[in-house]
Amino acid sequence: MRCVSTASKRVSARSSLPGPARFPLEQRRSCGRGCAAPEINRCFPDCPELNGLGVWPPERRSHGIGTAILRAAEAHVQRRGYRRIGLGVDDANHRAGALYLRLGYQETGCHYLDRYHYIDEHGTRHEVADPARFLIKQLPAAPTRRGGSSRVSAS
Ligand SMILES: CC(C)(COP(=O)(O)OP(=O)(O)OC[C@H]1O[C@@H](n2cnc3c(N)ncnc32)[C@H](O)[C@@H]1OP(=O)(O)O)[C@@H](O)C(=O)NCCC(=O)NCCS
Repeated sequence: MRCVSTASKRVSARSSLPGPARFPLEQRRSCGRGCAAPEINRCFPDCPELNGLGVWPPERRSHGIGTAILRAAEAHVQRRGYRRIGLGVDDANHRAGALYLRLGYQETGCHYLDRYHYIDEHGTRHEVADPARFLIKQLPAAPTRRGGSSRVSAS
């Protein structure tokens, strides 16, 4: 398990569907592809990545949901024996960047192009490459019932 994905960027296209309020958190899944960007995968091959975090509809933001998702993702990878989690944030996304830094994520100095696509309301596919940077948060070892450290394999 290398990649934790919540509400991917596809959600932005889906938000035009009727009744978006029914999907405040959209999808949530774990997958094994490693970090999505090859530049980051090379630098941090074993680091789980939280990818595509988003809270929809926008009126639901600033109520602690993003923080709760981040904490749940951190606990999720921690229980599996990982001692760090990373995420990418677009250079232009100052609010999200500030939130991550407040929550303990640290600069890695790794910059890359965040490549993704979306399909607009006419069905046209758009390829995007946004300059972004990668942040990492160190996680303590998961506590066990007996007070020791978890020894779950991180493969
Ligand atoms: C970035 C994002 C995921 C954060 O989710 P969120 O639910 O808004 O995050 P939180 O509410 O936990 O924290 C964000 C803000 O609310 C504040 N906050 C936290 N808990 C709060 C609460 N109970 N009541 C009011 N405000 C709260 C935080 O201090 C923070 O302040 P800010 O507005 O100055 O940034 C969300 O804003 C979003 O979907 N943005 C658009 C997509 C995006 O940019 N995704 C990031 C990709 S890297």
